[in-house]
Amino acid sequence: MSAKRIDGKLRAQEIHEEVARRSEELRGRGIVPTLAMMRVGEDPASIVYLRKKAEAAEKVGVQSKNIVFPEDANPEEVRQTMQDLNQDPNVHGILLQLPLPKGWDAQVLLNLMDPAKDVDGFHPVSVGKLVRGEPTLLPCTPLGILYLLHREQIDLSGKVVAVIGRSNIVGRPVANLLSQKGPGRDATVILLHSRSKEIPAWTSQADVIIAAAGQAQMITPEMVRPGAVVIDVGIHRVPNPDKPGKFKLVGDVHPDVKEVASAMTPVPGGVGPMTVATLLQNTVDAAE
Ligand code: GUN
Repeated sequence: MSAKRIDGKLRAQEIHEEVARRSEELRGRGIVPTLAMMRVGEDPASIVYLRKKAEAAEKVGVQSKNIVFPEDANPEEVRQTMQDLNQDPNVHGILLQLPLPKGWDAQVLLNLMDPAKDVDGFHPVSVGKLVRGEPTLLPCTPLGILYLLHREQIDLSGKVVAVIGRSNIVGRPVANLLSQKGPGRDATVILLHSRSKEIPAWTSQADVIIAAAGQAQMITPEMVRPGAVVIDVGIHRVPNPDKPGKFKLVGDVHPDVKEVASAMTPVPGGVGPMTVATLLQNTVDAAE
């Protein structure tokens, strides 16, 4: 078997088109949907992600502001900026790019954000509403994964979904959402993590695997039930064995899983573009 490629770029484009339409409508009413993105320090991956987010925002008519603090900035200054953005009626979405440098407490800063502008869904009020199944801004990567599964017409009701990774950004919220009542959900979710025993015994029972462990190519073909759907959230820059001295991007899933799965997201071009698209969707949601 060779798995169908679940095209995240194509699906992200669908969301971009819808967001562009809604941005234009907002602009017609004198509202310019605006996303403020804060970064502390010079984490190279964060710089790339934020550049991609800003470029995508511009294409769909969402204005973005980039606010950068040096690693040794005064935390009070960052807190004050967050509070100013909360108060600014022309800013609809706020994002604090993670991870923060060593010594910085992300939770303290996230707690200060106005939940109505929390386009990442990381504020405790957003998390609480998510867990209770109340309407709220949902975290971008889980939202993107839900959209991909929906557009692939994968019926999750009563199906077994194995989520590998318990991060607050992906694993826990996606596990929570998929186990909730409702269309496109209703799954039986197994949440696996670094202390789980016999991981292959669990994953091989799953109809859908969501790999978000942050470990390059850890999901191998033996761990996957033939015909399962595999969503790869990982992204790692590793030396390219075919081109000495060069690097390539790989996910948490080994490429040979293609031979076993029925459908699979590529890396790059799978979940990554969805995370950017859903961020912009959340921004217009917040602006509306
Ligand atoms: N770091 C890794 N993923 C994300 C994300 O979705 N949002 C933010 N703010 N930081 C991240």
